[in-house]
Amino acid sequence: MSFAADLLQGKRAIVTGGATGIGAHIVRRLGLLGAKVGIVSRKEENLQAAVNAFAADDGIEVLYRVGDVRAEDSVQSATQSLAEEMGGIDILVCNAAGNFICPTEELSPNGWRTVIDIDLNGTFHCCQAALPHLKQANDGGRIIAISTTQANSGWPTAAHAGAAKAGIQNLMKSLAAEWGPYGIRANWISPGPIKGTEGVDRLIIAQGRSDEVLERIPLGTFGDGEDIANAVVYLASPTGKYVSGTEIAVDGAARWGRS
Ligand code: HXC
Repeated sequence: MSFAADLLQGKRAIVTGGATGIGAHIVRRLGLLGAKVGIVSRKEENLQAAVNAFAADDGIEVLYRVGDVRAEDSVQSATQSLAEEMGGIDILVCNAAGNFICPTEELSPNGWRTVIDIDLNGTFHCCQAALPHLKQANDGGRIIAISTTQANSGWPTAAHAGAAKAGIQNLMKSLAAEWGPYGIRANWISPGPIKGTEGVDRLIIAQGRSDEVLERIPLGTFGDGEDIANAVVYLASPTGKYVSGTEIAVDGAARWGRS
């Protein structure tokens, strides 16, 4: 890690879906750079295990609240209560996501709705709940949403997730414009396939699609969780203060085509 060790000292961050996968990498990096971090997700056993691991492996104390990003009341109360305990919110990372592989022809309306609800509506709920706190942030609130470059190309067999993630990107552009006068920056990071996550293990490896996916990545490998965490740090710290309403793609130059 090559950031100054105290880069995020005094910052307070919420990471949704921060117990597992990419979210956990982000939490660890923010915490190691001095931020206070609170995580929100649905399963208390995952939250408890993650908080124990952050303490034991990394020496960082992470707070948690059980919450479902689909339910605005749940998001409101988790956000409010974490903000009270941390003394505010400077950084919101909208990372919680749900996805599965299903040809659109076979996708049920409820399957479509569920993913739109988690990814897109969940991001909206979190941004609204955090807004009053982000307005009071120390040097400009930061919203960082996790999308994917497959939202730009179309995502065959995951059209529900592609549409939700494309919606997230457009939401960030709108918030950058509307909330910029509050000093809030709103951006998104578009990861490619990141090893050790459900996105790669369940949606690529378990489907026997590794070779086909890797052929589309000029850098030739899946990414590491820390690649995404480093991009979050850039956007969350003073280094990213004039960046808003835009994407950082961290995907090995993936060529998904227009398919
Ligand atoms: C078809 C499916 C399905 C599948 C669920 N559904 N899985 N349809 N194929 N494999 C349908 C169900 O039949 C149901 O519709 C509806 O979706 C809701 O399903 P539930 O299981 O009731 O929903 P829920 O328990 O809320 O679970 C949400 C979930 C689940 C998204 C379906 O997979 C989940 O909780 N995932 C969380 C973690 C996750 O997905 N992480 C990976 C994100 S990876 P009916 O009509 O039957 O009622 C990512 C980026 C990947 O986002 C990047 C790769 C490069």
